[in-house]
Amino acid sequence: MDQPGFKKAALFNQLIDNKSVEMEVENMAVMLHRRGEMVYATGVYCPHAEVRLDPRNTAGDLIICKAHGYRSNIKTGECLEEPDMKLNTFPTVVEDGVVWIKF
Ligand code: FES
Repeated sequence: MDQPGFKKAALFNQLIDNKSVEMEVENMAVMLHRRGEMVYATGVYCPHAEVRLDPRNTAGDLIICKAHGYRSNIKTGECLEEPDMKLNTFPTVVEDGVVWIKF
């Protein structure tokens, strides 16, 4: 990886397709979402009222907050219920079987 600012987050083959997992990368909690050959990274807090999201509570590209049901897109961060709110998203690169994240 020769792009500045990227941190090693996981091995690609440890991630299960269509599943999301929470992990720490350099003391920061993040969520990784594998969708096919792509891996998306988001923050772990709901944009509505900062309740911690559950990585098991996803449907396709959406993660659904158990507090009030707000749905956020894991690829874009867009919150369907409140367009002015956004789930944090972070750039990722998968290279030679390693998932890199920048935040
Ligand atoms: S805190 Fe997540 S929907 Fe309200």
